Amino acid sequence: MKNKVAIITGSTKGIGLGIAEEFAKEKATVIIASLNQKDCEKTAKKIASKYKVKTLGIACDVSDTNQIRNLIKTTKNKFKKIDIFVNNAGIYPFKSISQIEEKDWDLVLDTNLKGSFFAIKEASKIMKPGSKILMISSIASMIGFSGLSHYCASKGGMNALVRSAALELASKKININAIAPGGIDTPGTKGSMDAKAREQIAARIPWKRRGTPKDIATVATFLCSDKAEYITGQILVVDGGWTLG
Ligand SMILES: NC(=O)c1ccc[n+]([C@@H]2O[C@H](COP(=O)([O-])OP(=O)(O)OC[C@H]3O[C@@H](n4cnc5c(N)ncnc54)[C@H](O)[C@@H]3O)[C@@H](O)[C@H]2O)c1
Repeated sequence: MKNKVAIITGSTKGIGLGIAEEFAKEKATVIIASLNQKDCEKTAKKIASKYKVKTLGIACDVSDTNQIRNLIKTTKNKFKKIDIFVNNAGIYPFKSISQIEEKDWDLVLDTNLKGSFFAIKEASKIMKPGSKILMISSIASMIGFSGLSHYCASKGGMNALVRSAALELASKKININAIAPGGIDTPGTKGSMDAKAREQIAARIPWKRRGTPKDIATVATFLCSDKAEYITGQILVVDGGWTLG
């Protein structure tokens, strides 16, 4: 990954931060794109000093297509290219069907699905052959979760988008794949589930533990490397066997 320029959305914490750190370890230039400019700059600075790589922090709300265009333009102007785009930013606010209003539906779908589509559209305009796009989907794209119908729909849409985009982007030799994580311990899941609920999930996972951002980040590193040149349009489940039984 040396000298590759990689944008990771939602990378000030959780899985996105894990991916940014793993890419930096491999000497990529990393662009930290999240909601808050100060947080992005702080994370970018920390990664630059820890891994001795170039970084940049740019605020970008992925539900706003203008901000996605700005993220791509600013990165291109500064680093001349984009080799890797990771669509990681996502939200999973638990609400039952009867509680979900139109604004709740729109926020989840705009963040998780619309944002990913426009990032693919804008990034692929300037990406060169050999570039990689990676989506962080979820096992919620494959099995149902009570209280997450809008989220499950957004992640199912993401998988369908990966397969269709892969067909179009193959002509430009741009790979696009997705990782579908299982239960990963992040600030997001710690905020939405108490310790007991997280332990109960761990007990049902064949691997007998919840995942870490690093479990996802190491797979992301492989899928975004030259070693994965012949893989495209795939959804790789990384869940310790949760969805097998
Ligand atoms: N943690 C899990 O168990 C799990 C499982 C499957 C899939 N995922 C997916 O992984 C991704 C990351 O999840 P996480 O648990 O690390 O989340 P998290 O809540 O811990 O971190 C999310 C990050 O995304 C950013 N973000 C939120 N909304 C944004 C927006 N509109 N624009 C830009 N950035 C935004 C936040 O600032 C933060 O940096 C999500 O797409 C999520 O659906 C997570």
